[in-house]
Amino acid sequence: MKKPVYILNGPNLNLLGQREPEIYGTTTLADIQAQCEASAAEHGLTITFHQSNDEGRLVTLIQEARTKAGALIINAGAYTHTSVALLDALQVLDIPIIEVHLSNIFKREPFRHHSYISTVATSLLCGFGAQGYIMALNALAPIREEG
Ligand code: DQA
Repeated sequence: MKKPVYILNGPNLNLLGQREPEIYGTTTLADIQAQCEASAAEHGLTITFHQSNDEGRLVTLIQEARTKAGALIINAGAYTHTSVALLDALQVLDIPIIEVHLSNIFKREPFRHHSYISTVATSLLCGFGAQGYIMALNALAPIREEG
């Protein structure tokens, strides 16, 4: 894959490590970014890693991924369960989309059981903690991209 894998993180994920560690673990988002960079390098991939608390900013990044990314890994945080705007933006993409959640959203409150992202994602990884991001990169590594 020549183009970078975009890895997008939604609201409150900047607080990983401090935020409800019993659910999300103690790994910080900076740790996850470093682990993703190391894993990508092993696979000969590059990544573009972002976090935003702003729904509109995430829409803009998804639109950017449409032309600039070879694949997208997204943990949309709470917007997973609420955002038609993110769904609409993702619907236009013609690249693999892997939805990631640190926690198993299906084991939690009922409002977390529905994901707008899952309706368009290629696949879903949840409940593996930070390892889910690495598993997503491992899954993308063999994919051959045209051009
Ligand atoms: C999350 C799960 C969401 O329900 C929650 O709102 C988050 C994090 C996860 O990674 O487990 O912010 O996406």
